[in-house]
Amino acid sequence: MEVKLPDSFLWGASLSAYQCEGGNFDSDWRFWEEEKGLEKAGRACNHYELFREDFHRARKLGLNSLRISFEWSRLVPEENYFCSESINHYSEVIDELLKLGLKPVVTLHHFTNPLWFTKKGGWEVSGNIDYFLSYTRYIVESLKDKVPVWLILNEPLVYIYKGFLEGSWPPGCKSLSRAKKVYNNMIRAYILAFDEIKKIYSEEFQEPQVSLAKHMRYFSGCGCFPAFFNSFIAGVRDKLFNTDGLSYLASKGKMDFIGLNYYCREYDRFSFPLGRECDCRQRGRKNYMGWNIYPQGLYKILKRMKEFGLPVIITENGSAEAKNSFYADFLLEHLRSLGRALLAGVDIRGYFWWSLIDNFEWDKGFSPRFGLFEVVYSDFSRRRRDFAELYSEICKSNKIDLN
Ligand code: BGC
Repeated sequence: MEVKLPDSFLWGASLSAYQCEGGNFDSDWRFWEEEKGLEKAGRACNHYELFREDFHRARKLGLNSLRISFEWSRLVPEENYFCSESINHYSEVIDELLKLGLKPVVTLHHFTNPLWFTKKGGWEVSGNIDYFLSYTRYIVESLKDKVPVWLILNEPLVYIYKGFLEGSWPPGCKSLSRAKKVYNNMIRAYILAFDEIKKIYSEEFQEPQVSLAKHMRYFSGCGCFPAFFNSFIAGVRDKLFNTDGLSYLASKGKMDFIGLNYYCREYDRFSFPLGRECDCRQRGRKNYMGWNIYPQGLYKILKRMKEFGLPVIITENGSAEAKNSFYADFLLEHLRSLGRALLAGVDIRGYFWWSLIDNFEWDKGFSPRFGLFEVVYSDFSRRRRDFAELYSEICKSNKIDLN
């Protein structure tokens, strides 16, 4: 059985500035890499110079949209200094997307901050929200006639978890109270930025679609002792990490759609206070990252999104695999889940593969390969992966085969 997608369906791929552009030397991540002796993003995929070629590749595949992000530290490299060269660059980037018929979906914050912002206490200081708002204003004012979809934040809970609870990302804290402060400030910043963006688009310009990209996992209780409590804690984690924030923003009318990033299932184990991911009994297929691949989870999560009464765009879904032959199955099975959810009445408006090209996977460096295109880092050439051909056929036909 085949499912026909709506004509306006967005078929895309996602990118983030720090992970692919290269040369983002004023970002807090660059200093973190140095401090911790991690692999450095350096010139990354040199996408900053090669963006035109990369966009052409996307267009040739038959995509009609791309999700990109702007690097805050490039646009505002020093406190209160807005770099006109960088805004001109991003303006050219958007022009190129539009010229190729690729609808721009732009993320304003994808994990990285300018170093000066972090030095002033970053997201822990409520007074710093104004810095994010003035950056938002500057960008949105400059590009309001060209960008129809804004994602204010990418995965705030992942950012907070890694940076303030686990301590494996900058600024490297392990403190529940500091994490809570950051959460409150980010949510406040999000709501204020949402209102700001809506205000900037005057009647001259069609109102933009505004949201955030929310990471969601399918949480299951681990079957080992104490199984009942493990299931209980999986429910708690699901509520905390998947739906609480969404319910809050949706009830306040501060999301035009749900941006959903889905990758995997997590098995949980009871421990105080929030439980933890269990590594003893992970069943099923794992990818190169060690993530438990569970395509049905996408279907189940999508169905639950109906309760919010908002359309959904899958802003990220993808995998890094040890073998090229595994990508196609991942793609097909997740698209089948999407197709089934559409049939079940979920209003899904787009699907973005993470990522268009291989890129810098944060603390894991360059070895995980998520791209529709492989990047040869020694000379920055790109090679299309086999499964990109399959994705291309599906995008062009605008149909998903459920069998
Ligand atoms: C993030 C990306 C990251 C990808 C794969 C997503 O959650 O937005 O930055 O590269 O996951 O780990």
